[in-house]
Amino acid sequence: MKILVTGGLGYIGSHTVVALQEKGYKVVIIDNLSNSSIEVLDNITKISGTKPLYENVDLREKKEVKAFIEKHKDIAGVIHFAAYKAVGESVEIPLEYYENNVAALVYLLREMKHLQHPKFIFSSSCTVYGQAEKLPITEDAPVQAANSPYGNTKQIDEEIIQDHIASGADIQAISLRYFNPIGAHPTALIGELPIGVPLNLVPYVTQTAAGKREQLSIWGDDYPTADGTCIRDYIHVMDLGEVHVIALEKLLEQDYKKKYEVYNVGTGKGNSVLDVVKTFEKVNNLKLPYVIADRRPGDVISAYADTTKAENDLNWKAKRTMADALKDAWLWEQKQH
Ligand code: NAD
Ligand code: WQD
Repeated sequence: MKILVTGGLGYIGSHTVVALQEKGYKVVIIDNLSNSSIEVLDNITKISGTKPLYENVDLREKKEVKAFIEKHKDIAGVIHFAAYKAVGESVEIPLEYYENNVAALVYLLREMKHLQHPKFIFSSSCTVYGQAEKLPITEDAPVQAANSPYGNTKQIDEEIIQDHIASGADIQAISLRYFNPIGAHPTALIGELPIGVPLNLVPYVTQTAAGKREQLSIWGDDYPTADGTCIRDYIHVMDLGEVHVIALEKLLEQDYKKKYEVYNVGTGKGNSVLDVVKTFEKVNNLKLPYVIADRRPGDVISAYADTTKAENDLNWKAKRTMADALKDAWLWEQKQH
């Protein structure tokens, strides 16, 4: 069965391609290499023993999307990762974000009408909840006004998919709202490749441990949490890759009738920034230089998932711990030097 993975050479996409190939799916990747490198294709091949099909298509180019789908009418499912994801950058260049994250989705969905009862998995984000009133966060928590164009693109995209389905389109879809993906494949052949100075916590931690950054700044220790630092739900990217296959298989079940569902994808556990630092030091047996700095504007205080819905409907639960992820993140970092 052929599955299209857009953004399949990126961080989460590459781990998902490996998980799909391990279960025998034939994968075709679309990626324009705007935030990835072609070597990822060889590394996916090394891990899984199979080279996925790959086409350098830019999803913003309607004609390219059309020509691609015409060539691959046997695609049974689409997992759509391709997007820009830097929150701060989205404030600087919002139109680029709306074009890449929203217009491209429209082009893709439009061309999917040429496929037979296609299944669609969308990469959404816990960012849609903002600072939720109740923790852990359930899927029925209200979506809050986005605090960045990036966050807004995820909300709009979820609405576009629902409107498209409500119009009678022959498609079944699941949006997965990821919490904080971290870690890498345990072989250290694929992982996250941040360009420039990392904005996310774990790549900053690993680069600091490697001596590439002088010290980690912890953005605030005066929040109303147990140790004063912010709380997040850090999920191993391997678990994240696997849940895409499980969600896809749910959609592919013969008697599955639902047109659209949303699932939180996290571990269900909240960890503070200091928990991350201490666990990283412990599992990797090293010291991490850090300072406490001012709060970062826009940070939510605490966000972690209620994963009951995914457990009940998909029979899925994250298997790996934060310690596993921080070990794998460090192996990956060391491989880069
Ligand atoms: P990534 O940047 O590593 O991967 C995205 C891939 O898409 C890249 O390889 C990039 O080259 C490709 N791409 C971008 N625009 C394209 C286009 N127009 N045409 C073809 N290819 C294009 O990002 P990631 O961390 O793997 O994230 C994947 C998805 O998950 C994104 O939609 C992101 O918004 C979402 N998400 C990520 C996180 C996170 O923290 N990493 C959290 C929540 C949601
Ligand atoms: C985690 C914690 C920081 C860096 C981002 C996006 C969000 C979603 C997930 C895509 C926070 C603290 C960080 C540093 C620090 N992505 N931190 N020093 O903020 O949960 O969300 O990724 O959809 O949209 O905004 O993740 O990794 O940036 O931060 O103290 O140098 O680490 O304050 O508490 P965040 P993050």
